[in-house]
Amino acid sequence: MRSADLAVANCEQLLTCKGPVPKRKEALGEVGLLKKGCIASYKGKIVFIGDERDFRREVQLEENSLCLEGKGLVGLPGFVDSHTHLPFAGTREEEFVLRLKGYTYQQLSEKGLGIQTTVKATRLASKKELLTLCLSRLDSMLIHGTTTVEAKSGYGLNLEDEIKQLEVLKELRKLHPAEVVPTFMGAHEVPPEYKERKNDYIELLIQKILPEVKEKNLAEFFDVFCEKGVFSLEETRKLVKAAKKAGLKIKIHADEFTSLGGAQLAAEEGATSAEHLINISEQGIQKLSQSSTAAVLLPAVSFFLMLEKKAPARRLIDEGAVVALATDFNPGSSMTESMLFVLQLGVFTLRMSIEEAINAVTANAAYAIDRHQEIGSLEVGKRMDLILCEAPNYPSLVYHLGINPIKHVIKNGRLVVKDGKIVGGSS
Ligand code: NIG
Ligand code: FE
Repeated sequence: MRSADLAVANCEQLLTCKGPVPKRKEALGEVGLLKKGCIASYKGKIVFIGDERDFRREVQLEENSLCLEGKGLVGLPGFVDSHTHLPFAGTREEEFVLRLKGYTYQQLSEKGLGIQTTVKATRLASKKELLTLCLSRLDSMLIHGTTTVEAKSGYGLNLEDEIKQLEVLKELRKLHPAEVVPTFMGAHEVPPEYKERKNDYIELLIQKILPEVKEKNLAEFFDVFCEKGVFSLEETRKLVKAAKKAGLKIKIHADEFTSLGGAQLAAEEGATSAEHLINISEQGIQKLSQSSTAAVLLPAVSFFLMLEKKAPARRLIDEGAVVALATDFNPGSSMTESMLFVLQLGVFTLRMSIEEAINAVTANAAYAIDRHQEIGSLEVGKRMDLILCEAPNYPSLVYHLGINPIKHVIKNGRLVVKDGKIVGGSS
């Protein structure tokens, strides 16, 4: 008998997304379907997953434990959003309306709009204001099934404001049930005061901000925007080497608008992930597919910027790359907290199968933030991060558009969303 303090019995379908992780090629299409599945956890960790007969035989529910009925519900691992720019102030509807009139994202950046607008607003925001914004965004993410969120700085672009963003992320870890994984992205853009002397900014990042981030233990990952007009391939390499030396793991915004070779660099440098990849070259596809670096695709960006071009998900999967999907939640190119929407875009716009897209927002997404030993799949010993959706079957999660079917969310063995509402919250 195994003791449990939380259980869900008789889910219509339970998707385990079980390993081995990372999932490549055909394995990406396997979701580990259990019909009438039961699952139980003790002190936050999964102790049982299987059918009802074994559940009754093997699981002993402690007094006062919670047992949810899974009838009419589809259960799957909590979504892992492996790429967000969570701690920003202000929104950019004005720029959005200009884009609808025909201006491109890059044209607006050249006019000093784009990222710079958010840098101004974020520098002006107090820590408390940023914290409040982030908390309500995390609530929204949780209600949409995201239980773990990677979050990048990169709208401060100076010592004080980068640290401010990262300190907010640290606070969130104490205040919100969703787990936040912090990334230092001081190399998101060149700040206006350094426009004519980019090298000085790179030196500031390497000599001053990076050591401070490290000293205060504020980030697990380092990220850089490798793009024409932002950081070149050589500048990216220099920054990445310095970040590795400081003990941070690496992510790279690579080949988003132009094919600079960021994907190859990510593979060469043993980065945890290369992200965006809308304009990845054939050589980049080959290199990434043969590496252990995850390819994090962000289909909401092509959608939001109305780009014809999409990341070549099918080619990457067929060549054996570790493909994950994430929101890229940010005010300029992807204003969405919903991983379900991203999952749907993975199917509709990138031509992934439903099963591939599900693994790409769970098991492989956990790999893309180096958390696959703990989360991303429902297996004994892993954390009990589970979402329960009101749906007759799992294809319905993609088939039925424009609603939020997520009824309950369990994080670390605790019910944090009940009947679509944050437990103990006002939303
Ligand atoms: O990931 N590509 C660079 N950065 C963000 C956009 C940030 C913004 O527009 O504020 C991205 O798409
Ligand atoms: Fe991004």
